[in-house]
Formats: sequence, C-alpha cells, structure tokens
Amino acid sequence: MDLDALRPDADRLWNGIEELSGFAEPDHDGWTRRVLGQPYLESRGWVAAQMAGAGLEVHTDAAGNTIGVLAGTEGRASIATGSHTDTVARGGRFDGIVGTLGAIEVARRLRETGTRLRDDLVVIDFLGEEPNEFGTSCIGSRALTGAVSPGFFDRTNDDGLTLGDRLQGAGFAPDGMLGLRWPAAPLRGFVELHIEQGPVLERAGTELGVVTAIAGIERVVASFLGRADHAGTAAMTDRKDALAAAAQAILAVEQLGCSGENSVATVGTVHVEPGALNVVPSLARLWAEVRSPSPDWLGTARRELMDRFAAIAAERGIEVDLRRLTDQDPVPTARSVQDLIADTSDDLGYSWRSIPSGAGHDAAHLAAIAPAGMIFVPSRDGRSHCPEEWTDSEDIARGAHALAATLVRMDGLALERDPR
Ligand code: HGY
Ligand code: MN
Ligand code: MN
Repeated sequence: MDLDALRPDADRLWNGIEELSGFAEPDHDGWTRRVLGQPYLESRGWVAAQMAGAGLEVHTDAAGNTIGVLAGTEGRASIATGSHTDTVARGGRFDGIVGTLGAIEVARRLRETGTRLRDDLVVIDFLGEEPNEFGTSCIGSRALTGAVSPGFFDRTNDDGLTLGDRLQGAGFAPDGMLGLRWPAAPLRGFVELHIEQGPVLERAGTELGVVTAIAGIERVVASFLGRADHAGTAAMTDRKDALAAAAQAILAVEQLGCSGENSVATVGTVHVEPGALNVVPSLARLWAEVRSPSPDWLGTARRELMDRFAAIAAERGIEVDLRRLTDQDPVPTARSVQDLIADTSDDLGYSWRSIPSGAGHDAAHLAAIAPAGMIFVPSRDGRSHCPEEWTDSEDIARGAHALAATLVRMDGLALERDPR
C-alpha cells in the first residue's frame, strides 16, 4: 500500500472545518455549538451529509451518535475512528471537529484511491462530548460502550429539567441508551485524531503526538447556603455570606490543583443568588473539577475537596450541599495502538512524541471495549476552549494522513488491549 497516496485533500478538509463552524449559537464571541442546542442539532444533519458524500452508510445509533460505515471486503471485524462536533461556550473551531472531519476525509481518500479494507470502517460523530448543563459529558461514547445507568439521565439542570427530558425533547431516546453493546462486527481498535489543546508539540517543534494516557477527571458541585441580608445594615460579624464562602472554596481548589504532580483543578462556573449589588448573597453554587493521570491522587483529592468545603461552611455557620457529578478514571491507551501510530508516523516521515492528554476524550470510553489510541496535532500557543484556538491546515492534514495510514495498517491486525 502506497501510504503517501492516502494524503488528505487539505483544502477540502479545511473548507469543511470552516463550513461546520458556521453552525453556531448567535451573540457569542468565538464559536458556541453546545450539545442539544439548535445549531448543534442542525449541524449533525450537515455532518451526516458529509459522511454520505464520502460514501459512508449513515445512521444515528441508539446512543445518539452519527455513524458512517464503509463496508469491508470481509467485514468480520470493525475498525473505528471519530470524535465530537459539539463545543464549549465561546470555544474554538477545532476541538473535536478535526477528528470527526478528519475521519470523514480518511473515508473519502480510501474511496478515491480504491483502497478496500477487509474490516468495516466505522466513522463516529459522538453525541455531546463536552460537559453540559447537567454536569455530565461524553453522552454518546459512554452510552455506546454501555457506561450509562438510568441515574445518568436523572441529573437535573438549574431549571429542574432532567438530561433525559432534554434528550427526549431533542428527539433522542434515553431509554434506548441503556445497556448498549458495540452493535457492529467485533471492534478491532479505535483511533481518535484530536488537537493537543496544550503547548507541548508546538514548543518541541514535533509534528504529531502519540497519546499515552487520558487524564482522569473528578467533578463536584458545591452549593453554599447562606442568608440574604441588607448589604448596608448587616454587620460583618452577623453575616452568612454564601459567596464569600465560595470564594474561600475556589482558592482551596486552586491550592489543591497545585499540590499534585501533573494535577490541575478549576472552578469554571459559579451561580449566585439573589445576585443583587446591595444584598448579601444567600446562595453560591460552584462547579469544581480536578484532573490527574493518577487514580490514587484523584480519589484523595476529591475527598479532600469535599472535606475542605464542609469545613469552610462550618467555620462560617452556613450549610453546604455537596454532589459528586462525574468521575472519569485516568485511562492508559493501548500500547499496541501507540506503537502502530508511532511506526506509521515514522514510515510517513513525520516526527512524533509520546504525550499524555490533560483533556478528556471519547477515546477514554472506547478504551473500555477495544484497543484505543489517539493522534494529536499541535495547538498554536497551546490554547483551546477559547476563540484563539487554532491549528494550521497543514498540521491537520498531517494528522489526517497519519490517521488514514494507521487505520489501513490496523485493518485485519490482531491488537493487544493491554495498556502500557
Ligand atoms: O474537558 C475536556 O477535557 C474536554 O475538552 N471535553
Ligand atoms: Mn473540549
Ligand atoms: Mn475534544
């Protein structure tokens, strides 16, 4: 197989990224296409049409993922690739999109070069990878791999709506998302192309990243319940200021993030009531997450955080309601897939380095059912989840080329699942 012939049409891939970025919620700087929002639902029709145009047989699976299949000559196994097309609020145009459209471009190049695989090629646009208003994430990849229980859909947003209601309202069937098993021919392996979302590759001048592990994530929501009072007449010693308590808690999260090796911790969202300039806040709800490649550190960190939040509330004589949102264990990728990506990159003449992922990905869930791996391409200035997110067209094309060649090499191969 002449791997060079699989080189993607860089302009076609870039134009697709530009076109998809047009499906965005209005009035936001950057790009916002949140799961179940109207622009997102419309964009999934566009992605399905791109898949069909690439010669894939397209359907929406029971997990709500948009799936395109290129039947193999034997079809006794499947090889899968894909990513997500939803974004964070005021995000960028490349996170997830590069892996989904890159996978579709791979299907186009296989067809255009007359390259027939023995295995079925399954291209997936996973439903809702980004954290949503219900505090969950990776809806489609969790469901596809049988990792959601009924409680997953009972989580509520600030308006008391459940995730199940929202999914139903958008035309999905949450009941049908329970207890799923990989629906196609046995899955031989999964590879996801993704932007690095960090500075390592760019700083090192390395063209590709071979991901070794995907960080674990613990998310907790803490509601500090204080008392509303007049900001002018309530003495400082009498106050039950929920937001002051949350402020102390936010600094505790930052300190925790600084305490571990390769750990990070963030509070990205705070909700305050009544939210008036001259009223002592009665409620402050914060969403905190901690990440680490170490499962032990993560477990301890979550407990430490909950204890610290409770102590802050007690010191101030107020209540705090604590809820664990999602837990995502750190996931090592399969050594066999890492080696396949690395050897293929060598053969293509692309520089690469092993790199852990601080970001979460759908691949972390696919790793539960098959040997999984990821290919990173550089992010300019290491920025992501912001309008400045950027990856050059030739970097994207290089990643899609490595993805195509890796999948062709994976075809028919017996892969070990044991992670590194
Ligand atoms: O949050 C993450 O790590 C991913 O971008 N969803
Ligand atoms: Mn993201
Ligand atoms: Mn992503």
